[in-house]
Amino acid sequence: MGILDKHKFLETNATALLVGSLLVVSIGGIVEIAPLFWIENTIEDVEGVRPYSPLELTGRDIYVREGCYVCHSQMIRPMRDEVERYGHYSLAAESQYDHPFQWGSKRTGPDLARVGGRYSDEWHVDHLTDPQSVVPESVMPKYGYLATRMIEPTYITDLMNTHRFVGVPYDDEMIEAARQDFLAQADPDSDYDGLLERYPGAQVRNFDGAPGISEMDAIIAYMQMLGTLVDFSTFEPDPAR
Ligand code: HEC
Repeated sequence: MGILDKHKFLETNATALLVGSLLVVSIGGIVEIAPLFWIENTIEDVEGVRPYSPLELTGRDIYVREGCYVCHSQMIRPMRDEVERYGHYSLAAESQYDHPFQWGSKRTGPDLARVGGRYSDEWHVDHLTDPQSVVPESVMPKYGYLATRMIEPTYITDLMNTHRFVGVPYDDEMIEAARQDFLAQADPDSDYDGLLERYPGAQVRNFDGAPGISEMDAIIAYMQMLGTLVDFSTFEPDPAR
């Protein structure tokens, strides 16, 4: 019996074909799925990546609430045109503490994954207040009202506990200090040493230049952090991945 005759048996016998197909598909499935049971994490640990500070996390919530992700992605793909325009391609670890992730699926505006430090705080205030005053052809809506909405860390502990629940490594000390860290980050005259210990590289200043802490402060604190946590002058990808 030649090989083709053996195959004829499978092709003319529905049950044998079904069993054979299932067998082949399961081998493929096991090869893909089984290793995931033995590795702890599919994300490479990268130095510098840390959970968001209370003020950054609040800014991120405002970003999500306002639907900024509808027009902006936060994922630089490893292709030359993207890397030349936006900087180093995004690492999985950089979105590790994002719940929900902000990769986005549409770019009406530019990718924001590395917008941190690209513009001054004043630029952000002007741009958010009236985008067309800075970029005349912009179709971005105005968000000036963020500057008049004052915020307090009333629910920051709950928010951080919720993120801890889904896996963000906020420890007890971070949760306990959440309110004071929230206030300290927007006030350069405060005692912010603890904040910097808990959130290395956190930027401390009056982000919108106006008295009090507004939603504008929080969203600018968030944007000025985006893409700045990893030092790409020393970063090397793990060759085993
Ligand atoms: C309707 C689509 C739309 C929405 C919604 C939107 N943007 Fe934009 N955004 C744009 C466009 C278009 C540009 C490019 C022109 C410009 O700079 O205004 C832009 C530019 C930007 C830039 C400058 C990026 C760069 O690298 O030059 C930032 C920062 C930004 N947006 C932040 C935000 C934030 C924060 C929100 C939510 C509060 C938001 N955008 C909502 C369309 C949008």
